[in-house]
Amino acid sequence: MQVITTGKEMQAFSRKIRTEGKSIGFVPTMGALHEGHLSIVSRSVEENDITLVSIFINPTQFGPNEDFNKYPKDHKGDMEKLLSLNVDAVFLPDVAEMYPQGYSTFVYVGGIGGILCGASRPDHFNGVATVVTKLFNTVMPDRAYFGQKDYQQTVVISKMVRELCFDIDIVVCPVVREADGLAMSSRNAYLNEEERKAASILSKALEYGKELIMSGREQQTSLIKSKITALIQSEPLASIDYVEIVGPQYLEVVKEVKTPAVIVLAVKIGNTRLIDNIIVESN
Ligand SMILES: Nc1ncnc2c1ncn2[C@@H]1O[C@H](COP(=O)(O)OP(=O)(O)O)[C@@H](O)[C@H]1O
Ligand SMILES: [Mg+2]
Repeated sequence: MQVITTGKEMQAFSRKIRTEGKSIGFVPTMGALHEGHLSIVSRSVEENDITLVSIFINPTQFGPNEDFNKYPKDHKGDMEKLLSLNVDAVFLPDVAEMYPQGYSTFVYVGGIGGILCGASRPDHFNGVATVVTKLFNTVMPDRAYFGQKDYQQTVVISKMVRELCFDIDIVVCPVVREADGLAMSSRNAYLNEEERKAASILSKALEYGKELIMSGREQQTSLIKSKITALIQSEPLASIDYVEIVGPQYLEVVKEVKTPAVIVLAVKIGNTRLIDNIIVESN
């Protein structure tokens, strides 16, 4: 497994692979890898000749009072996990490599970047779109793999890829969960024992919302939302950022639920902000 730290070397590596006619699968991450990441990496290894994983904690997607400085890190564990999955190369740039002194070029997402998570994290998706653009131009993959756990991110990236004409297939992989339903996330490491137990309320609320919709008894989005909200509020450690029921492609809020729909939510458990979602499709 090659470890590459500069953009120039990364491009040279990828160009050589491409001239050999081999396909490149790419998995961007911020490290502190867990089973959610690993399932995506395995999918890429299955579907491509070469799999590249990047680990970069991207400062431009963190707000000024967010956790950039204490974001979980586990370099040794990450390397062991990727090695065991037969990853071909890891791209590990530092901040100065990605954003050298005087850096000023950004990708602006617009509309859907400002709702849901973008409402409480104003520049978050611009930071994501910017770093993903830079990574795409550096790694030059055929396919790039993202997790459904970050649903809005998959919509933002897919739209960006269409609108900026990247010749890259975006593959969205299912949410990997703990036994009690909690979506795996590097930030789960922030939760203490009591908070960890409380955090299962997110997936419970999503399952409950899905049942309500599937039963057909409730069509009014506002009613379904208030029932989901009440369930989450029954957990004393939880405080809701948002709960919404949206269309799968444009994230538009509708008055009456029609499937397919996505229930998306962001909830703080103690000081830790967690997100999750569920897709509701009619059978
Ligand atoms: N539980 C999960 N199931 C599926 N994909 C996930 C999961 N957690 C993270 N991912 C995906 O891994 C990629 C890197 O995410 P990253 O920010 O490093 O991890 P996390 O969101 O856990 O903090 C993203 O595409 C993200 O959606
Ligand atoms: Mg994340």
